[in-house]
Amino acid sequence: MDGDCIAWVGPAAALPAAYDGWTRETLPGGLLTPALIDCHTHIVYGGNRASEWERRLLGASYEEISRAGGGIRATVAATRAASEDELVASARRRLDDLIAEGLGTIEIKSGYGLDTQSECKMLRAARTLGRDSGIRVRTSFLGAHALPAAYEGRPDTYIDLVVEEMLPAVVEAGLADDCDGFCENIAFSAKQMRKVLEKAKSLGLGLRLHAEQLSNQGGAQMAAELGALSCDHLEYVDEAGVKAMADAGTVAVLLPGAFYFLGESKKPPIAMMRDHRVPMALASDCNPGSSPLTSLLLTMNMGCTLFGLTPEEALAGTTRAAAAALGLGTHLGTLEVGKTADLAYWDVDHPGHLAYPLGANPHRGQIRAGQWVT
Ligand code: NIG
Ligand code: FE
Repeated sequence: MDGDCIAWVGPAAALPAAYDGWTRETLPGGLLTPALIDCHTHIVYGGNRASEWERRLLGASYEEISRAGGGIRATVAATRAASEDELVASARRRLDDLIAEGLGTIEIKSGYGLDTQSECKMLRAARTLGRDSGIRVRTSFLGAHALPAAYEGRPDTYIDLVVEEMLPAVVEAGLADDCDGFCENIAFSAKQMRKVLEKAKSLGLGLRLHAEQLSNQGGAQMAAELGALSCDHLEYVDEAGVKAMADAGTVAVLLPGAFYFLGESKKPPIAMMRDHRVPMALASDCNPGSSPLTSLLLTMNMGCTLFGLTPEEALAGTTRAAAAALGLGTHLGTLEVGKTADLAYWDVDHPGHLAYPLGANPHRGQIRAGQWVT
């Protein structure tokens, strides 16, 4: 490593003589990887939804709970009521779980505020988490996550508020790197989401979209055609959507934690994504309703056991493809000369073994931008 970058990679025996005088460190464990990247989280939120989970165990569906005014709206009420410091403190506990497993970069969404002030509060909390923890944080503005109760029956009026007031405000304050939305029959249509994403693009934000999680709305195709960095969930995506993603270089972010926790049965079309060479990332989707998951290693295991990814695809999913999903592929995600030295080392002897255990943590240490972290 030279400063914060990787200077050379290869077998020790091939190390050029020019490096003879450089400091050497021998790491414990058998494997060095890029630090892991969680490219889809809602880790900042108030309250929890444990009682909603119990209702689902007794037979209520996620969709029914949402239509009855629970679900995301319940977390919106708790998040609006929480102070910024409270949001930072509760999210920090979840972030620490991820860091303990080699996390170097995380994406954090807003989307539980649904008014300008509360969305900004969430995004400021996310930026604070990045400064306090030393982990690289990328933020996504998710104002179009659910229809706030006050706009019941007037979704287009709410979309206008997102486009005309909220987006310009979060961009002006420098709080958002990217823009996301929830395109679904219980949230917003592809037409409504197009309006939001087009505005976000004109303001210089990267684009991503929760698409085809519970039904096929054509959101993935629409977002890919706008040049989205990622489309996420994708259980119900069709071939037109996958092709559009392949053409645009859009990353498929798979979220097996939500599939598992909601007891879904329709899997994303992995074979079709492989055929069209769409890069596949894996993320925790950490959120109180559909995926209270704070382990990327378990996410990788679920990607294999539930969706049929290979263990090496799972590792690429939380490194190379996750970096691409955040638009950071030229700096992060692989061990290559010139990339940022964000590294994790592990007590395993084969890359495929990271996704194999359930509940074990073979992480032994981390290097962040060339700095040792113990
Ligand atoms: O990614 N799908 C929309 N958003 C989240 C769930 C949010 C919630 O239920 O609080 C997701 O699954
Ligand atoms: Fe999500």
